[in-house]
Amino acid sequence: GNYSSGHVCFRRSCSGAMAEEAKKRAAYAAVDNHVQDSHVVGVGSGSTIVYAVDRLAERVRQEKLKIVCVPTSFQARQLILKHGLPLSDLDRHPELDVAIDGADEVDSSLTLIKGGGGCLAQEKIVADCAKHFIVIADYRKDSKCLGQQWKKGVPIEVIPMAYVPVSRVITRRFGGETVLRMGINKAGPVVTDNSNFILDWKFESVHNWKEVNMAIKMIPGVVETGLFVGMAERVYFGMQDGTVTFR
Ligand code: 5RP
Repeated sequence: GNYSSGHVCFRRSCSGAMAEEAKKRAAYAAVDNHVQDSHVVGVGSGSTIVYAVDRLAERVRQEKLKIVCVPTSFQARQLILKHGLPLSDLDRHPELDVAIDGADEVDSSLTLIKGGGGCLAQEKIVADCAKHFIVIADYRKDSKCLGQQWKKGVPIEVIPMAYVPVSRVITRRFGGETVLRMGINKAGPVVTDNSNFILDWKFESVHNWKEVNMAIKMIPGVVETGLFVGMAERVYFGMQDGTVTFR
């Protein structure tokens, strides 16, 4: 191959590996700083949380920690089972010591967009049950204002029969556009763990996320929004230089 294609390839894999390392370091920092013996731990969803569960399992083995894990999705449940960690639920553990989860974007006041993986409703429920909600992310999620990094919009979980009216109300009242999230080969809509659909709302300009979040939640047919306002206590960012910062 010529130099230029080789060069592009190298840079791609290099930046991918850098982001993975950043996710891993953020996840390890969160688990090491916030999980203690006898904790009930909420386990988020996505690719960053995989590293957090790796670290939880390692600490359980090495330090003989006794923890209990509450999943936020089918994926999280599978991760917990794969590592042989004790699995629980909100029936038995409605109060969590800490919940750790990823995010699609984090703004300067720790408002989050979540739901890239479609698990936003359970993620928000579990986060709300936790005394401390800790977020882990790589440097690409760090943003001054929402929408600067994450271009797919705010995920909104809706009851299937209501997706058209909900979509019309949102765009009429708040502008932008909504897209019904489709699955593989666009053969049909993505169906969430709760058997609902996801609308991705590509917003134009929003100044008050707290108000917009509450207004969208009030629309009949909306189950939950991927806006997490005033919930994250701390966000760990894995940086490009291999360090971890938090805010
Ligand atoms: C899933 C989520 C995830 O936490 C979010 O999409 C981040 O995922 P990743 O760690 O793979 O970037 O909200 O609903």
